[in-house]
Amino acid sequence: MALVICRQDTKIEQWKKALKTAAPDMEVYSCLEDHPKEKVKMALVWKHRPGSLKQYSNLECIASSGAGVDFIFEDSEAPKNLPITRVIDPILAGDMAEHVMALVFAYLKNLNQYKLDQTQKNWNPRAYARIKDFTIGILGLGTLGSVLAKDLVHVGFRVQGWSQSQKSIRSVKAFCGKTGLDAFLATTDILVCLLPLTPNTKGILNKELLGKLPKGSYLINVARGGHLIDKELLAALDTNHLKGAALDVFHEEPLGEGHPFWSHPKVHISPHCASVSDTDSVVPQIVENYRNLMSGKLLQNIVSMDRGY
Ligand code: GLV
Repeated sequence: MALVICRQDTKIEQWKKALKTAAPDMEVYSCLEDHPKEKVKMALVWKHRPGSLKQYSNLECIASSGAGVDFIFEDSEAPKNLPITRVIDPILAGDMAEHVMALVFAYLKNLNQYKLDQTQKNWNPRAYARIKDFTIGILGLGTLGSVLAKDLVHVGFRVQGWSQSQKSIRSVKAFCGKTGLDAFLATTDILVCLLPLTPNTKGILNKELLGKLPKGSYLINVARGGHLIDKELLAALDTNHLKGAALDVFHEEPLGEGHPFWSHPKVHISPHCASVSDTDSVVPQIVENYRNLMSGKLLQNIVSMDRGY
């Protein structure tokens, strides 16, 4: 039995080394090297080349090396009916919470505007906000959203969250389902999207949803570019309905050179870096699932095919 690492970035060797260090007995290959395809039962993937998994006829499990699995479902040629696993990792969730918190504080204290002012040597003190001034609403209270919610509560923010099914987190006002969404949006000043990308959530950050936020609110999207209708966000910013947006994820990554987000004064951009799987932290769960697969045991962190996450 062997595992193949399939991705198109430069991190294959890093993952291979981490896996071999943690489990020297494991047979691990890069998709870029010659390898015995028939021995591969597990594929560790991150934005792999669509169609590339069908060459493994004995594949038994597709493991995402991140929290998201949307790119696996989007690969129409990926083998069907195999278990898909994803990463559930406290370090990944903690990194996401830290990143969102940095964006929230930059917004409260006008740090992005001061950066712009600096490029023009413009000395312009602005009124700042305080923690007590805002209610932060988190779309998605899953493994990432719930950690963020707890951390924000800990710092003193008013926090509320929306999810498909009712969740209960101490000191977090929980809304759920279609009926809860409007009330959640109407009382949210900073909206953070941490939903999984599925057919149900694709394009959810659209004109209608943004229009239900109070005037002057702020959007943070650290989930997937596919959640957002770019043009409708631009319209909400240009009509001053929204005060600004911080975006870490985009339909096309890297973001195309001509995209209006690059030069929009109300948009803060980061290059899909909010929270990146740490090999040392994630490798043990991959090794555990490899061993589970080898011995016919139940896999950890299996994705529900119905829910798509
Ligand atoms: C990052 O985007 C992830 O899904 O882990």
